[in-house]
Amino acid sequence: MLRKFGKKLSVFMVLVLVVASLSACKGGDDKKNNSTGNEITETVTPSPTEVPATPTPSPNPIDDMTLKEVYKDDFRIGVALPIGYLGKTVLTDEIKSQFNSMTFENSTKPDAILRQAACAAGLPGTYTEPVINLDSIESYMKFAKDNDIAVRFHTLVWHSQTPTWFFTEDYSVGGTKVSREVMLKRLESYIRQVVTLVEEKYPGQVYCYDVVNEAIDPGQGDANGMRKNSLWYEVIGPDFMEYAFKYARQYAPEGVDLYYNDYNCYLKTTQILKALEPIKEAGNIDGIGMQGHISISNSVERAIKAPAVEFTAAGYKVQITELDIGISEESDANLELQAMKYRVLFKKIREAKQEGKINIDCITIWGLYDSASWRQDESPLLYQYRAGKLIRKRAWYGAMQDPSVKAIEL
Ligand code: XIL
Repeated sequence: MLRKFGKKLSVFMVLVLVVASLSACKGGDDKKNNSTGNEITETVTPSPTEVPATPTPSPNPIDDMTLKEVYKDDFRIGVALPIGYLGKTVLTDEIKSQFNSMTFENSTKPDAILRQAACAAGLPGTYTEPVINLDSIESYMKFAKDNDIAVRFHTLVWHSQTPTWFFTEDYSVGGTKVSREVMLKRLESYIRQVVTLVEEKYPGQVYCYDVVNEAIDPGQGDANGMRKNSLWYEVIGPDFMEYAFKYARQYAPEGVDLYYNDYNCYLKTTQILKALEPIKEAGNIDGIGMQGHISISNSVERAIKAPAVEFTAAGYKVQITELDIGISEESDANLELQAMKYRVLFKKIREAKQEGKINIDCITIWGLYDSASWRQDESPLLYQYRAGKLIRKRAWYGAMQDPSVKAIEL
């Protein structure tokens, strides 16, 4: 039985907490960096007058409901999982009941799949046919299948978590870079092998692939905003994206969606849409994934809803693929503000879906509990894991649209 996070707040406490939090918000930096070093620029000015309070009923009926039930008519609810949870029923019970989509946090990235020793040992046969291995996801794919959890595959092509040796003649770290032609062959081979293996071993389980991740970075990019600090860009050139999507479409089964995925989409909506235009014209892309690594100072309207509406209007499906909402310090007031932010975000996205403005397919939370988050210093997730227990935070109640969490942004 899960314990609820925190005690139910009285009217008085809510007001005290929120007012106490205002000084922190007001005094905070306008510019923050999330853990990728990506600048988050948007802030919301808090207003104390907007905080009515509703006592939590006891027992709270929300405790017996689940995220996937609450949003079953609107979109999937996903979670990113590292390897290592399967033996712990306290975790798997909650995952099974709450989520109907999952992403492997790191296990389906190129550095987890490519095998350097086998690539090097197999030369010249492996020169354009790199060796891959997907064994580490086996038990998780079984878990997903047994529990009706669809899998979103993250990610085929990315500048990060892709080994530098993959781009060299002899598959050595310091080796000479291969030509564009050879790298295009390796790209084709990698996508073909991974997608084919996934589809053969786990037919029907993967419902979408992130084909390319984070290729657009207007701040440090080329004239079109394409990220230059990427070996894909350096060795192949800016059209590596078009090839990646072309190959993915060639090998992915019909009905499996192909996504471009990126962070801070609200700061580069135009560049993303422009870069994807030829890929869309060729019919090789279905959706845009907005990562959603935000903090309580971000405006949901501007940081999430506006780009999602724009992407939808341009004919794309949309997902929020890596949602986490950071707080600078784990105070009760901040945890309440975080819960409010989760509530507002889910509410606005659902309303926009129902109005036909956002064609959203899934919202994925990037991790299960705070201490396992890649942003653990910012406690950004829906649960805490303490003394062998998984504890629902106020954030979980916010995401559940529990009326005890205010549906407003401060
Ligand atoms: C992160 C993982 O959560 C960490 O465990 C890993 O050390 C680094 O990558 N954007 C992405 C994700 O697309 O793959 C990243 O995941 C977070 C940023």
